[in-house]
Amino acid sequence: MPLMSTKVMFEKAMEGGYAIGAFNVNNMEIIQGIVEAAMEERAPLILQVSKGARKYANATYLRKMVEAAVEVSGLPIALHLDHGDSFELCKDCIDGGFSSVMIDGSALPYEENVALTKKVVEYAHAHNPYITVEGELGTLAGVEDEVSHEVSSYTRPEDVIDFVTRTGVDSLAIAIGTSHGAYKFKPEQCTRNEKGILVPPPLRFDILEAVSAKLPGFPIVLHGSSSVPQEFVQIINANGGKMPDAVGIPEDQLRKAAAMSVCKINIDSDLRLGCTAGIRKHFAEHPDHFDPRQYLSDARDNIKSVVKHKLVDVLGCAGKADEILEAYAKASK
Ligand code: G3H
Ligand code: 13P
Ligand code: ZN
Repeated sequence: MPLMSTKVMFEKAMEGGYAIGAFNVNNMEIIQGIVEAAMEERAPLILQVSKGARKYANATYLRKMVEAAVEVSGLPIALHLDHGDSFELCKDCIDGGFSSVMIDGSALPYEENVALTKKVVEYAHAHNPYITVEGELGTLAGVEDEVSHEVSSYTRPEDVIDFVTRTGVDSLAIAIGTSHGAYKFKPEQCTRNEKGILVPPPLRFDILEAVSAKLPGFPIVLHGSSSVPQEFVQIINANGGKMPDAVGIPEDQLRKAAAMSVCKINIDSDLRLGCTAGIRKHFAEHPDHFDPRQYLSDARDNIKSVVKHKLVDVLGCAGKADEILEAYAKASK
C-alpha cells in the first residue's frame, strides 16, 4: 500500500466530526510508539517531518521508516512535510515521495505568502493530484528549533476565501491561540487552579467559526496543539529536570475543535515530554543502565500511551482507519 493522501482522510474527518493526529517523527522509537498506538486503535495517521527532523535523522531514513510503518501496520498513513519554508524544500519532499507538504509562508507579507503557496500547490498537483498542500495564515507564538515567532497574530477571517481561492491549497492552518512548544502561555496570561497549575486563556472559537462559515467543508489545521500533560512535567521535574510553568492547550478545547472543521491537529511537544519523562525516570531508577534499548523502551511506551489517549479521547479518530482505506480504494479505481 502506498503512503496515503490526506484528501480522503480530511473528507472522512469532516464528515465524521473527528480530526487526524499529525505527529512529528524524528527517530525510530517515536515512529514505533505512535504506530503501535494507532494499530491498537485502528486509527489513521499523519506522520510529519520538520526541516529540523530532516537535518537530525536524514530525510531518506525517515521516509523509509515511515514506509516500514505502512507495511507493518496496514494503516492509512500520510507522510507530511511540517513547516516547509521554501519552494525548494517542498519540491525536494514531493520528488522524494512525501504524500503531503506544508508551505509555511505565514511570516511573509500576505501577497508573498500567496505567491509562494501558489507555486508549491501548482508543482505538487502537477506532480500528482493526490499530493496535498497545507498553507498557513496568521502566526503562532512559541519557540522551537526551526520554528520561532516572538509575536502571534490571529488569522483574519476576511482573508481566507481570497487565500484559498488564489493559492489552490488543500487545507489551511489558522492561528486561534495555540502556540508551539511546552510553554504556550506566559504565567501572566493565565489564571491558576487550586493546585497552582496554570490555566490558559481559551482558544478563539469565534475565529474558527468565522473561518468555517467562509469556507464551508474546507479542512482546517491546528498547529501547536500539545496539551503538555502535567504528569509528565512532574516526572521530569522530580527526576532532575527543570520545566517550571510548562503549559499547553486543554484537551476539551481540542476535542471541540475536532468536532468542528478542524481535520488535522499537530502534536509534537507531548511526545517529547513523554519521551523525556520516560528516560529521566528510567535513569533515576536504574543508574547502572547503559543499554539504549532499556531506556528507549520506556520512552517509546510513554509515547504510545500518550498517542493512544489522543486518538481515543481528543481526536476521535480511533476505529476510523477502515473507512478511510475503503474510501481510498474507491477513489483510486
Ligand atoms: O512545529 C514544530 C514542530 O514541533 C517541529 O519542531 O522544528 O524542532 O523539529 P522542530
Ligand atoms: P506542539 O509544540 O504544540 O506539539 O505543536 C507541534 C506542531 O505544531 C508541529 O507543527
Ligand atoms: Zn507547527
